[in-house]
Amino acid sequence: MKLQGKNAVITGGASGFGEGIARRFAAEGAGVVISDLNGDAGAAVAASINDDGGRARFAHGDVTISADVKHMIDTAVSAFGGLDIVVNNAGMPQRNQPMIDVDEETYDRMFDVNCKSVYLSALHAVPVLRERGGGVIINTASTAALRPRPGLTWYNASKGAVVVMTKSMAVELAPDDIRVNALCPVAGDTPMLGAFLGGEVTNEMYAKFVETVPLGRLSTPRDIANVAAFLASDEAAFLTGVCIEIDGGRCI
Ligand SMILES: NC(=O)c1ccc[n+]([C@@H]2O[C@H](COP(=O)([O-])OP(=O)(O)OC[C@H]3O[C@@H](n4cnc5c(N)ncnc54)[C@H](O)[C@@H]3O)[C@@H](O)[C@H]2O)c1
Repeated sequence: MKLQGKNAVITGGASGFGEGIARRFAAEGAGVVISDLNGDAGAAVAASINDDGGRARFAHGDVTISADVKHMIDTAVSAFGGLDIVVNNAGMPQRNQPMIDVDEETYDRMFDVNCKSVYLSALHAVPVLRERGGGVIINTASTAALRPRPGLTWYNASKGAVVVMTKSMAVELAPDDIRVNALCPVAGDTPMLGAFLGGEVTNEMYAKFVETVPLGRLSTPRDIANVAAFLASDEAAFLTGVCIEIDGGRCI
């Protein structure tokens, strides 16, 4: 098992990619703290992992609130005795629409959820990882950061910031043996997909998007979790500052 003896915090772990990552990390032997705004769904994922013989806790919280972020880090330390891996996965989409139709409140909230969350997580997690002698931070960016498409301008920009944060954190934290890498998924069939495609997902819209992916399908939580488990493991010991496209060739 790749992550035996490690402990992880996964934000947005109640749904989609975050749930997939939490389940995979637990199956690889990690203790996992699932953090999410959605209390019922987050607690259900943690309970289901525990029922399957894994080690999971739920920490309710909003990644834009410093005290909530501290709570999720503290939960890992109190429940499992330490922290090794933080996955900053919680995110907020922009509904596909012209850039000047996005209101200021949505813009601010999106940058808080997608970017400020990485900052707050660093404030609370880095001292704990330093004390541990090292660790791994994984940020969920997007292909939107690498190949921005129209209609998602501010979302694209927020994920672009996540890519730069990842690289900058990687060089600054390398002396502490803290590796920082990013996941760049192409669209995945999660509750977020409708926003990216501009509303309800019709079969026609779905098929049109799939046509743009050389491997002929959207990403799945399993695809994302496979890469996250590798990056979190010692197999990726010499990787830091990389932003991996998990996109079936879409960015080519
Ligand atoms: N689905 C896609 O097409 C896609 C593609 C590329 C990148 N991403 C990114 O992947 C990540 C996960 O997205 P997903 O598709 O699994 O979405 P999802 O909607 O299935 O899950 C997102 C989770 O984050 C939680 N969340 C949202 N705001 C939060 C906050 N402020 N504090 C705590 N939790 C919060 C939600 O409650 C939800 O459980 C996001 O960062 C997203 O931007 C998604």
